[in-house]
Amino acid sequence: MEKIFASWHDAIQKLPLNQPVARHIQQKKICLVRLSTNQIIAFKDACPHMGTSLSKGIITEKQAIVCPWHHYS
Ligand code: FES
Repeated sequence: MEKIFASWHDAIQKLPLNQPVARHIQQKKICLVRLSTNQIIAFKDACPHMGTSLSKGIITEKQAIVCPWHHYS
């Protein structure tokens, strides 16, 4: 069962570096990434192309996310 976070503060605890992670925050599925600069970015966990979960993608050396399905970035 996936944990539902009550706040952003709880959701960003223990985020791995350069690895997209899915979090449910206030009933919305969000993709969070802690970049190597330690900056945290958040966006809807759905690729704008066909909606697959970007949290299953990868982060490139240039800090771009690559979709796991059709590999757009
Ligand atoms: S669904 Fe993400 S690139 Fe196609």
